[in-house]
Amino acid sequence: MKGKILGLSLLLMVALVQAAEMEKKHTMHHGKMSADNRTSLNLSPMMKQHQLTNMRAHLAAVQEIIIQISAGDFSQASDTAHKKLGLTKEMEAMCSSFGSDTFKELGISFHKSADSLGEILEKGNTEDSLAALGKTMSYCVACHAQFKQ
Ligand code: HEC
Repeated sequence: MKGKILGLSLLLMVALVQAAEMEKKHTMHHGKMSADNRTSLNLSPMMKQHQLTNMRAHLAAVQEIIIQISAGDFSQASDTAHKKLGLTKEMEAMCSSFGSDTFKELGISFHKSADSLGEILEKGNTEDSLAALGKTMSYCVACHAQFKQ
């Protein structure tokens, strides 16, 4: 009997320690997720909508480029990169309208890198094209890590 109780208490202790460990991991995970130290652009509701619409178009353009590369349609992919992600007058104006020089520089560098991507795509080499797409996307990642609406 004594042996059984001891065994059960041990089991219970192990379970409690495990639960505490899991709880700790859980809070750490959430702590990390909710700590949002990104710079806010303090956008008006209208600017927010405008920016998100633009962003969803960026995402769709990246998907389009990947599909076009996989189909071997390099000249179309190049066209998509220049027209939908490249530095157009509209994009330059958009990037300059948020009142942050850092944001503007990041945005313009991003659009310029998309134009370089367009030039590389034109040459039709898959490996070089994917490397260039990865480079362009590093601007998406960098800006999202630094800024929020
Ligand atoms: C110069 C800055 C910058 C660059 C470059 C950038 N984004 Fe964004 N993006 C933002 C900001 C700011 C938000 C809003 C994020 C927030 O408030 O949490 C955003 C939001 C988004 C969203 C969310 C849209 C929604 O409707 O919720 C998507 C998707 C997105 N970006 C895709 C991309 C992709 C793909 C690229 C690159 C091809 C890219 N972005 C490049 C700044 C940028």
